[in-house]
Amino acid sequence: MFKTLDDLPEEGRLLVRIDVNSPVENGEVQDNRRFSRHAETLRELADDGYTLGVLAHQGRPGRDTFVSLEQHAEILSSHLEREIQYVPDTYGEDALEAIRDLSGGEILLLENVRMIDEELADRTPEAHADSAFVETLSGEFNAYVNDAYSTAHRGHASIVGFPQVMDAYAGRVMEAEYEANSAIQEREFDGHVSMALGGTKADDLIHVMERVDDTVDTFLMGGIVGELFLRAAGHDVGYDVEDTDFFDEQWAEQEDTIRELLDSYGDRIRLPVDLAYEDDAGERAEVAVEGVEKGTSFLDVGSETVGEYEAVVADSEAVFVKGALGVFEDERFADGTVGILEAIARTDCFSVVGGGDTSRSIEIYGMDEGDFSHVSIAGGAYVRALTGESLVAIEALEE
Ligand code: 3PG
Repeated sequence: MFKTLDDLPEEGRLLVRIDVNSPVENGEVQDNRRFSRHAETLRELADDGYTLGVLAHQGRPGRDTFVSLEQHAEILSSHLEREIQYVPDTYGEDALEAIRDLSGGEILLLENVRMIDEELADRTPEAHADSAFVETLSGEFNAYVNDAYSTAHRGHASIVGFPQVMDAYAGRVMEAEYEANSAIQEREFDGHVSMALGGTKADDLIHVMERVDDTVDTFLMGGIVGELFLRAAGHDVGYDVEDTDFFDEQWAEQEDTIRELLDSYGDRIRLPVDLAYEDDAGERAEVAVEGVEKGTSFLDVGSETVGEYEAVVADSEAVFVKGALGVFEDERFADGTVGILEAIARTDCFSVVGGGDTSRSIEIYGMDEGDFSHVSIAGGAYVRALTGESLVAIEALEE
């Protein structure tokens, strides 16, 4: 097991890695749960008098979302209701000057770590530790805290390099995410375990299904992946139509695996019995899957499916959610996603809701986060946790 903030020495200067990687719309960074969660870790540390240098990334080189962290500092400041300083430099002279000017309880956000080449270099943790980036910053701080669970699957310098040369601790977000997301692999559940799978990325979800064979009793399918399974079951859905390109390519790659899973899991896989689409009047309309016509673009599971899935959830001891069952951003097509979440909220089952997008529906539709055991802020790391694959950040902290 790793050390946590409870094991920190009483005072000192801490280098804290967080993950506030966010959607960016028209150049504007969008506030989201990652900010509020990490703000709590920073608040705890600053209130305890530690001096904090903070590392984070945004986007990937070459993408529109690859921007500086100036706006992130403002958003974090608004959550913390205190100033988070920002310097447009990661470990050069300006960064070092700003770090050395800091005193107890002050917080400085350094520039996007992915703007330096060493962060993304394909190296071992030991080689990352030898980089000028890690050598320079580790000399300025007494200990390293990794709170960036959602980047825990990336073997980058700021994740695996510092723990090689500094005392390393897991932050509160890291600790909570690790515990809840690993529950599917670590805990024994006496009762029925269900998993709702939706969203667009079939390969991730199929991989999860293969890895939780021993734990999950029922899979509730929706979204694009649900349609691909319906296609394998012989229905006329899961094909690309005029305005979609989600289906045929994924079908070509996954057809065999989907057929094998349908075969071996049998009725443990529950498929939609009806689907919703937008009719000519712009209204939500529904059709039974038996009667669907090839060429319709479906945007949600239908109400009969929602009812069936709700009944499964009501009888479950644990429910894991990965991905949305429909296009919930549009109120007309939110019934599947919201129906499952509300059904979970009505029970006292152990529940983990994952995937940045799915968890956003909790806010949009005014549900109470407290009704779920855990709402994850991770994407790829959540998928890995569900499959039981190890996370390099956790390995580094444990070492
Ligand atoms: C995420 O948003 O899932 C993490 O920040 C990791 O980002 P990445 O997929 O660009 O490495």
